[in-house]
Amino acid sequence: MIKDEFMIGGDGMKFKYDFPILTTDIVYLDNCATTLKPLEVIDAVSNYYKNYSASVHRGAYEISKKVNEKFDETRQKVKSFINAKDSCEIVFTSGTTESLNLAIKGFFLNYLKSKDEILTTKAEHASLLLPWYEVAKKTSANISYIDLEDDLSVTIKNVKKAINKNTKVISLAHITNVLGDIRPIKEITSLAHKLGILVLVDAAQSIPHQKVDVQDLDVDFLAFSAHKMLGPTGVGVLYGKKHLLEKVSPLITGGGMNAFFDSMMNVVYKDLPDKLEAGTPNIAGIIGFSSAIDYLNKLGIDDVHKYEVDLKKYAISKLSNFEYINVYNKDIENGIITFNVEGVPSKDVAEYLNQKNICVRVGTHCAKALSEVLGVRSTCRVSLYFYNTKEDIDKLVNALNGDILLLKTD
Ligand code: ALA
Repeated sequence: MIKDEFMIGGDGMKFKYDFPILTTDIVYLDNCATTLKPLEVIDAVSNYYKNYSASVHRGAYEISKKVNEKFDETRQKVKSFINAKDSCEIVFTSGTTESLNLAIKGFFLNYLKSKDEILTTKAEHASLLLPWYEVAKKTSANISYIDLEDDLSVTIKNVKKAINKNTKVISLAHITNVLGDIRPIKEITSLAHKLGILVLVDAAQSIPHQKVDVQDLDVDFLAFSAHKMLGPTGVGVLYGKKHLLEKVSPLITGGGMNAFFDSMMNVVYKDLPDKLEAGTPNIAGIIGFSSAIDYLNKLGIDDVHKYEVDLKKYAISKLSNFEYINVYNKDIENGIITFNVEGVPSKDVAEYLNQKNICVRVGTHCAKALSEVLGVRSTCRVSLYFYNTKEDIDKLVNALNGDILLLKTD
Protein backbone atom coordinates (compact mmCIF):
# COMPACT_ATOMS: atom_id res chain seq x y z
CA MET A 1 0.00 0.00 0.00
CA ILE A 2 1.44 3.39 -0.96
CA LYS A 3 1.66 5.98 1.78
CA ASP A 4 -0.53 9.01 1.01
CA GLU A 5 2.30 11.40 0.29
CA PHE A 6 3.58 8.99 -2.34
CA MET A 7 0.25 8.17 -3.96
CA ILE A 8 0.70 7.87 -7.72
CA GLY A 9 -1.84 9.36 -10.08
CA GLY A 10 -4.19 12.33 -9.87
CA ASP A 11 -2.81 15.47 -11.44
CA GLY A 12 0.81 14.44 -10.79
CA MET A 13 1.33 17.57 -8.65
CA LYS A 14 3.29 15.72 -6.00
CA PHE A 15 5.85 14.63 -8.57
CA LYS A 16 6.27 18.20 -9.81
CA TYR A 17 8.06 18.96 -6.52
CA ASP A 18 10.40 16.04 -6.99
CA PHE A 19 11.18 16.17 -10.71
CA PRO A 20 12.24 19.66 -11.82
CA ILE A 21 11.60 18.89 -15.52
CA LEU A 22 7.93 18.24 -14.73
CA THR A 23 7.47 21.92 -13.84
CA THR A 24 8.21 22.87 -17.46
CA ASP A 25 5.97 22.52 -20.53
CA ILE A 26 7.74 19.37 -21.61
CA VAL A 27 5.67 16.18 -21.86
CA TYR A 28 8.30 13.51 -21.37
CA LEU A 29 7.22 10.19 -22.89
CA ASP A 30 10.59 8.53 -23.55
CA ASN A 31 11.12 6.63 -20.33
CA CYS A 32 12.41 3.48 -22.02
CA ALA A 33 15.38 5.53 -23.18
CA THR A 34 15.99 7.08 -19.78
CA THR A 35 13.89 8.28 -16.88
CA LEU A 36 13.83 11.68 -15.22
CA LYS A 37 15.73 12.03 -11.95
CA PRO A 38 14.11 13.11 -8.68
CA LEU A 39 15.76 15.78 -6.55
CA GLU A 40 16.71 13.12 -3.99
CA VAL A 41 18.94 11.49 -6.60
CA ILE A 42 20.31 14.79 -7.89
CA ASP A 43 21.02 15.92 -4.31
CA ALA A 44 22.73 12.65 -3.38
CA VAL A 45 25.10 13.02 -6.33
CA SER A 46 25.71 16.68 -5.63
CA ASN A 47 26.17 16.07 -1.89
CA TYR A 48 28.84 13.47 -2.61
CA TYR A 49 30.78 15.86 -4.84
CA LYS A 50 30.34 18.77 -2.43
CA ASN A 51 30.98 17.10 0.88
CA TYR A 52 32.81 13.78 0.77
CA SER A 53 34.12 13.13 -2.73
CA ALA A 54 36.84 10.62 -1.82
CA SER A 55 37.53 7.36 -3.64
CA VAL A 56 36.04 4.06 -2.56
CA HIS A 57 37.77 1.15 -0.79
CA ARG A 58 41.10 2.95 -1.02
CA GLY A 59 41.43 5.45 1.85
CA ALA A 60 41.77 5.09 5.63
CA TYR A 61 40.32 8.50 6.43
CA GLU A 62 36.83 9.52 7.54
CA ILE A 63 35.30 10.84 4.31
CA SER A 64 36.64 7.79 2.50
CA LYS A 65 35.04 5.52 5.09
CA LYS A 66 31.75 7.33 4.50
CA VAL A 67 32.08 6.62 0.76
CA ASN A 68 32.74 2.93 1.49
CA GLU A 69 29.63 2.79 3.63
CA LYS A 70 27.36 4.43 1.02
CA PHE A 71 28.82 2.35 -1.79
CA ASP A 72 28.44 -0.96 0.02
CA GLU A 73 24.97 0.03 1.20
CA THR A 74 23.91 0.53 -2.44
CA ARG A 75 25.03 -2.98 -3.30
CA GLN A 76 22.91 -4.28 -0.42
CA LYS A 77 19.92 -2.27 -1.63
CA VAL A 78 20.26 -3.66 -5.15
CA LYS A 79 20.55 -7.16 -3.72
CA SER A 80 17.28 -6.70 -1.81
CA PHE A 81 15.53 -4.95 -4.70
CA ILE A 82 16.02 -7.97 -6.98
CA ASN A 83 16.14 -10.53 -4.15
CA ALA A 84 19.61 -11.88 -4.93
CA LYS A 85 21.00 -14.40 -2.45
CA ASP A 86 24.28 -12.66 -1.81
CA SER A 87 25.52 -9.10 -2.36
CA CYS A 88 28.62 -10.47 -4.11
CA GLU A 89 26.28 -11.47 -6.94
CA ILE A 90 25.78 -7.77 -7.73
CA VAL A 91 28.50 -6.37 -10.01
CA PHE A 92 28.45 -2.65 -10.81
CA THR A 93 29.08 -1.76 -14.43
CA SER A 94 28.50 1.32 -16.58
CA GLY A 95 25.09 0.11 -17.79
CA THR A 96 23.14 -2.78 -19.29
CA THR A 97 25.36 -2.79 -22.38
CA GLU A 98 28.52 -3.35 -20.35
CA SER A 99 26.76 -5.90 -18.15
CA LEU A 100 25.67 -7.96 -21.15
CA ASN A 101 29.13 -7.69 -22.72
CA LEU A 102 30.69 -8.83 -19.45
CA ALA A 103 28.50 -11.92 -19.18
CA ILE A 104 28.71 -12.80 -22.87
CA LYS A 105 32.42 -12.16 -23.44
CA GLY A 106 33.64 -12.79 -19.90
CA PHE A 107 31.78 -16.06 -19.42
CA PHE A 108 30.22 -17.50 -22.57
CA LEU A 109 33.26 -16.87 -24.77
CA ASN A 110 35.07 -19.50 -22.69
CA TYR A 111 32.01 -21.67 -22.13
CA LEU A 112 30.83 -22.22 -25.70
CA LYS A 113 32.38 -24.54 -28.24
CA SER A 114 32.07 -24.98 -31.97
CA LYS A 115 28.52 -25.97 -33.04
CA ASP A 116 27.00 -25.07 -29.68
CA GLU A 117 23.83 -23.07 -30.08
CA ILE A 118 22.85 -19.67 -28.68
CA LEU A 119 19.09 -19.20 -28.69
CA THR A 120 17.70 -15.69 -28.87
CA THR A 121 15.14 -13.66 -30.87
CA LYS A 122 15.16 -11.11 -33.66
CA ALA A 123 13.46 -8.60 -31.35
CA GLU A 124 16.51 -8.06 -29.15
CA HIS A 125 18.45 -4.87 -28.56
CA ALA A 126 21.89 -4.36 -30.16
CA SER A 127 23.55 -4.55 -26.75
CA LEU A 128 22.50 -8.19 -26.51
CA LEU A 129 22.77 -9.37 -30.12
CA LEU A 130 26.08 -7.72 -31.08
CA PRO A 131 28.19 -9.27 -28.28
CA TRP A 132 26.62 -12.63 -29.14
CA TYR A 133 27.55 -12.17 -32.81
CA GLU A 134 31.17 -11.58 -31.77
CA VAL A 135 31.22 -14.61 -29.50
CA ALA A 136 29.53 -16.79 -32.12
CA LYS A 137 32.17 -15.82 -34.67
CA LYS A 138 35.03 -16.46 -32.26
CA THR A 139 33.77 -19.81 -30.96
CA SER A 140 32.06 -21.04 -34.16
CA ALA A 141 28.89 -21.46 -32.13
CA ASN A 142 25.60 -20.87 -33.98
CA ILE A 143 22.96 -18.30 -33.23
CA SER A 144 19.39 -19.40 -33.78
CA TYR A 145 16.19 -17.46 -33.32
CA ILE A 146 13.04 -18.47 -31.51
CA ASP A 147 10.02 -18.08 -33.82
CA LEU A 148 7.88 -15.17 -32.74
CA GLU A 149 4.10 -15.43 -32.70
CA ASP A 150 2.00 -13.23 -35.01
CA ASP A 151 1.94 -10.56 -32.31
CA LEU A 152 5.75 -10.99 -32.07
CA SER A 153 5.59 -12.46 -28.57
CA VAL A 154 7.73 -15.35 -27.33
CA THR A 155 5.83 -18.42 -26.19
CA ILE A 156 7.16 -21.39 -24.29
CA LYS A 157 5.83 -23.58 -27.12
CA ASN A 158 8.18 -21.85 -29.58
CA VAL A 159 11.09 -21.93 -27.13
CA LYS A 160 10.61 -25.71 -26.84
CA LYS A 161 10.49 -26.01 -30.61
CA ALA A 162 13.75 -24.05 -31.01
CA ILE A 163 15.78 -25.99 -28.45
CA ASN A 164 17.97 -28.83 -29.70
CA LYS A 165 20.76 -30.94 -28.25
CA ASN A 166 23.34 -28.25 -29.04
CA THR A 167 21.51 -25.42 -27.25
CA LYS A 168 23.71 -24.13 -24.45
CA VAL A 169 22.22 -20.74 -23.65
CA ILE A 170 18.96 -18.84 -24.05
CA SER A 171 19.44 -15.09 -24.06
CA LEU A 172 16.66 -12.55 -24.40
CA ALA A 173 15.06 -9.48 -22.88
CA HIS A 174 12.52 -9.85 -20.10
CA ILE A 175 10.55 -7.00 -21.70
CA THR A 176 11.54 -5.80 -25.16
CA ASN A 177 12.32 -2.14 -25.66
CA VAL A 178 10.28 -1.70 -28.84
CA LEU A 179 7.00 -3.53 -28.33
CA GLY A 180 7.27 -4.08 -24.61
CA ASP A 181 6.22 -7.72 -24.87
CA ILE A 182 6.78 -9.63 -21.65
CA ARG A 183 8.58 -12.95 -21.95
CA PRO A 184 7.73 -15.98 -19.78
CA ILE A 185 11.16 -16.00 -18.16
CA LYS A 186 10.27 -18.29 -15.25
CA GLU A 187 8.92 -20.98 -17.57
CA ILE A 188 11.93 -20.55 -19.86
CA THR A 189 14.47 -21.00 -17.05
CA SER A 190 12.57 -23.98 -15.68
CA LEU A 191 12.63 -25.69 -19.07
CA ALA A 192 16.22 -24.63 -19.82
CA HIS A 193 17.64 -25.83 -16.52
CA LYS A 194 16.09 -29.30 -16.96
CA LEU A 195 18.15 -29.50 -20.14
CA GLY A 196 21.37 -28.00 -18.74
CA ILE A 197 20.88 -24.73 -20.65
CA LEU A 198 21.84 -21.40 -19.07
CA VAL A 199 19.67 -18.27 -19.26
CA LEU A 200 20.91 -14.68 -19.61
CA VAL A 201 18.26 -11.96 -19.38
CA ASP A 202 18.31 -8.30 -20.35
CA ALA A 203 16.07 -6.74 -17.69
CA ALA A 204 16.68 -3.08 -18.60
CA GLN A 205 13.00 -2.51 -19.40
CA SER A 206 11.47 -4.69 -16.69
CA ILE A 207 13.22 -3.89 -13.39
CA PRO A 208 12.20 -0.19 -13.41
CA HIS A 209 8.54 -1.08 -13.92
CA GLN A 210 7.63 -4.34 -12.22
CA LYS A 211 8.84 -6.68 -9.52
CA VAL A 212 11.78 -8.80 -10.63
CA ASP A 213 12.91 -11.51 -8.23
CA VAL A 214 16.01 -13.23 -9.57
CA GLN A 215 15.62 -16.23 -7.29
CA ASP A 216 12.02 -16.75 -8.26
CA LEU A 217 12.82 -16.35 -11.97
CA ASP A 218 15.91 -18.52 -11.42
CA VAL A 219 17.90 -16.65 -14.07
CA ASP A 220 21.62 -17.36 -14.34
CA PHE A 221 22.66 -13.85 -15.40
CA LEU A 222 20.62 -10.66 -15.56
CA ALA A 223 21.55 -7.12 -16.64
CA PHE A 224 20.01 -3.69 -16.06
CA SER A 225 20.75 0.05 -15.82
CA ALA A 226 20.27 2.61 -13.06
CA HIS A 227 19.33 5.47 -15.39
CA LYS A 228 16.15 3.73 -16.56
CA MET A 229 14.95 3.57 -12.93
CA LEU A 230 15.45 7.17 -11.75
CA GLY A 231 19.20 6.79 -11.15
CA PRO A 232 22.16 8.52 -12.77
CA THR A 233 23.56 7.53 -16.15
CA GLY A 234 26.76 5.49 -16.24
CA VAL A 235 25.72 2.86 -13.69
CA GLY A 236 24.52 -0.64 -14.39
CA VAL A 237 24.35 -4.03 -12.75
CA LEU A 238 25.28 -7.51 -13.79
CA TYR A 239 23.62 -10.06 -11.54
CA GLY A 240 24.87 -13.62 -11.76
CA LYS A 241 24.55 -16.73 -9.65
CA LYS A 242 27.68 -16.84 -7.52
CA HIS A 243 29.11 -20.08 -8.90
CA LEU A 244 28.75 -18.71 -12.45
CA LEU A 245 29.99 -15.19 -11.73
CA GLU A 246 33.08 -16.76 -10.19
CA LYS A 247 33.88 -18.13 -13.63
CA VAL A 248 33.53 -14.77 -15.40
CA SER A 249 36.87 -13.44 -16.64
CA PRO A 250 37.26 -9.71 -16.12
CA LEU A 251 37.16 -7.77 -19.40
CA ILE A 252 39.07 -4.96 -17.72
CA THR A 253 41.98 -5.46 -15.36
CA GLY A 254 43.76 -2.96 -13.15
CA GLY A 255 43.45 -1.34 -9.75
CA GLY A 256 40.89 -2.39 -7.19
CA MET A 257 40.37 -5.87 -8.63
CA ASN A 258 43.72 -7.51 -7.82
CA ALA A 259 44.80 -8.95 -4.47
CA PHE A 260 48.45 -9.36 -5.50
CA PHE A 261 50.83 -8.99 -8.45
CA ASP A 262 54.57 -8.92 -8.93
CA SER A 263 57.06 -8.20 -11.68
CA MET A 264 57.11 -11.87 -12.72
CA MET A 265 53.51 -11.46 -13.90
CA ASN A 266 52.10 -13.44 -11.03
CA VAL A 267 48.63 -12.02 -10.42
CA VAL A 268 45.90 -12.94 -7.96
CA TYR A 269 42.49 -11.42 -8.42
CA LYS A 270 40.22 -10.45 -5.54
CA ASP A 271 37.00 -12.29 -4.82
CA LEU A 272 33.62 -11.26 -6.19
CA PRO A 273 32.45 -8.65 -6.84
CA ASP A 274 35.73 -6.65 -6.77
CA LYS A 275 37.39 -8.89 -9.35
CA LEU A 276 34.90 -7.64 -11.97
CA GLU A 277 35.05 -3.95 -11.00
CA ALA A 278 38.49 -2.72 -12.09
CA GLY A 279 39.35 0.97 -11.76
CA THR A 280 37.63 3.72 -9.85
CA PRO A 281 33.91 3.16 -10.29
CA ASN A 282 31.19 5.74 -10.89
CA ILE A 283 30.96 6.49 -7.17
CA ALA A 284 28.64 9.50 -7.45
CA GLY A 285 26.36 7.55 -9.78
CA ILE A 286 26.24 4.55 -7.50
CA ILE A 287 25.42 6.74 -4.49
CA GLY A 288 22.66 8.40 -6.56
CA PHE A 289 21.39 4.94 -7.53
CA SER A 290 20.88 4.22 -3.83
CA SER A 291 18.47 7.16 -3.57
CA ALA A 292 16.69 6.03 -6.74
CA ILE A 293 16.03 2.63 -5.17
CA ASP A 294 14.77 4.31 -1.99
CA TYR A 295 12.38 6.39 -4.08
CA LEU A 296 11.00 3.36 -5.93
CA ASN A 297 10.68 1.42 -2.69
CA LYS A 298 8.64 4.24 -1.17
CA LEU A 299 6.29 4.16 -4.16
CA GLY A 300 6.09 0.37 -4.30
CA ILE A 301 7.05 -1.25 -7.59
CA ASP A 302 3.75 -3.15 -7.87
CA ASP A 303 1.84 0.12 -7.69
CA VAL A 304 4.16 1.65 -10.29
CA HIS A 305 3.33 -1.23 -12.62
CA LYS A 306 -0.40 -1.05 -12.02
CA TYR A 307 -0.48 2.70 -12.59
CA GLU A 308 1.41 2.41 -15.88
CA VAL A 309 -0.88 -0.34 -17.15
CA ASP A 310 -3.96 1.76 -16.34
CA LEU A 311 -2.45 4.85 -17.96
CA LYS A 312 -1.63 2.89 -21.10
CA LYS A 313 -5.22 1.58 -21.24
CA TYR A 314 -6.43 5.17 -21.01
CA ALA A 315 -4.10 6.18 -23.86
CA ILE A 316 -5.14 3.24 -26.03
CA SER A 317 -8.83 3.98 -25.49
CA LYS A 318 -8.23 7.50 -26.84
CA LEU A 319 -5.83 6.58 -29.66
CA SER A 320 -8.20 3.87 -30.89
CA ASN A 321 -10.52 6.65 -32.07
CA PHE A 322 -7.97 7.57 -34.77
CA GLU A 323 -8.22 4.99 -37.54
CA TYR A 324 -5.01 6.37 -39.14
CA ILE A 325 -2.90 5.39 -36.12
CA ASN A 326 -1.54 1.84 -36.09
CA VAL A 327 -0.59 0.78 -32.60
CA TYR A 328 1.55 -2.37 -32.67
CA ASN A 329 1.19 -3.38 -29.02
CA LYS A 330 -2.27 -2.36 -27.82
CA ASP A 331 -2.84 -5.22 -25.42
CA ILE A 332 0.56 -5.57 -23.79
CA GLU A 333 0.32 -4.82 -20.10
CA ASN A 334 2.92 -2.14 -19.54
CA GLY A 335 3.54 1.50 -20.41
CA ILE A 336 4.97 1.08 -23.92
CA ILE A 337 2.94 2.26 -26.94
CA THR A 338 4.57 1.80 -30.34
CA PHE A 339 2.79 3.25 -33.34
CA ASN A 340 2.88 4.78 -36.77
CA VAL A 341 0.61 7.28 -38.44
CA GLU A 342 -0.51 5.94 -41.80
CA GLY A 343 1.22 7.72 -44.66
CA VAL A 344 3.37 9.94 -42.40
CA PRO A 345 7.05 9.05 -41.93
CA SER A 346 7.63 8.28 -38.26
CA LYS A 347 10.43 10.79 -37.96
CA ASP A 348 8.05 13.52 -39.16
CA VAL A 349 5.54 12.42 -36.52
CA ALA A 350 8.21 12.65 -33.81
CA GLU A 351 9.35 16.05 -35.03
CA TYR A 352 5.73 17.28 -35.15
CA LEU A 353 5.28 16.12 -31.54
CA ASN A 354 8.58 17.73 -30.61
CA GLN A 355 7.27 21.06 -31.85
CA LYS A 356 4.49 20.63 -29.30
CA ASN A 357 7.05 19.82 -26.58
CA ILE A 358 6.16 16.13 -26.53
CA CYS A 359 9.17 13.84 -26.32
CA VAL A 360 8.85 10.41 -27.94
CA ARG A 361 11.45 8.13 -29.47
CA VAL A 362 11.53 7.33 -33.17
CA GLY A 363 13.46 4.91 -35.36
CA THR A 364 14.53 1.31 -34.86
CA HIS A 365 15.13 1.79 -31.13
CA CYS A 366 18.48 -0.08 -31.34
CA ALA A 367 16.62 -3.26 -32.34
CA LYS A 368 17.33 -3.26 -36.06
CA ALA A 369 16.75 -6.99 -36.67
CA LEU A 370 13.15 -6.60 -35.46
CA SER A 371 12.16 -4.91 -38.72
CA GLU A 372 12.69 -8.30 -40.44
CA VAL A 373 9.62 -9.57 -38.59
CA LEU A 374 7.70 -6.39 -37.74
CA GLY A 375 7.43 -5.45 -41.38
CA VAL A 376 8.19 -1.75 -40.80
CA ARG A 377 11.59 -0.28 -40.18
CA SER A 378 10.80 2.77 -38.14
CA THR A 379 8.20 3.44 -35.46
CA CYS A 380 7.35 6.08 -32.87
CA ARG A 381 7.44 4.92 -29.27
CA VAL A 382 5.74 6.42 -26.24
CA SER A 383 7.02 4.99 -22.97
CA LEU A 384 5.39 5.93 -19.69
CA TYR A 385 6.50 6.11 -16.09
CA PHE A 386 4.62 6.69 -12.85
CA TYR A 387 4.99 10.49 -13.04
CA ASN A 388 3.14 10.69 -16.37
CA THR A 389 -0.49 11.72 -16.10
CA LYS A 390 -3.76 11.56 -18.02
CA GLU A 391 -3.08 15.18 -18.88
CA ASP A 392 0.13 14.11 -20.65
CA ILE A 393 -1.85 11.54 -22.60
CA ASP A 394 -4.51 14.11 -23.50
CA LYS A 395 -1.79 16.41 -24.86
CA LEU A 396 -0.41 13.55 -26.96
CA VAL A 397 -3.87 12.61 -28.23
CA ASN A 398 -4.70 16.23 -29.10
CA ALA A 399 -1.42 16.56 -30.94
CA LEU A 400 -2.19 13.44 -32.97
CA ASN A 401 -5.59 14.71 -34.10
CA GLY A 402 -6.41 15.14 -37.78
CA ASP A 403 -3.86 17.90 -38.46
CA ILE A 404 -1.02 15.44 -38.44
CA LEU A 405 -2.39 14.00 -41.69
CA LEU A 406 -1.24 17.19 -43.41
CA LEU A 407 2.24 15.63 -43.18
CA LYS A 408 1.20 12.66 -45.34
CA THR A 409 3.71 11.84 -48.04
CA ASP A 410 1.57 9.34 -49.98
N1 ALA B 1 17.45 1.00 -25.19
C1 ALA B 1 17.01 2.31 -24.95
C2 ALA B 1 15.74 2.60 -25.68
O1 ALA B 1 15.05 1.71 -26.04
C3 ALA B 1 18.07 3.29 -25.25
O2 ALA B 1 15.41 3.73 -25.92
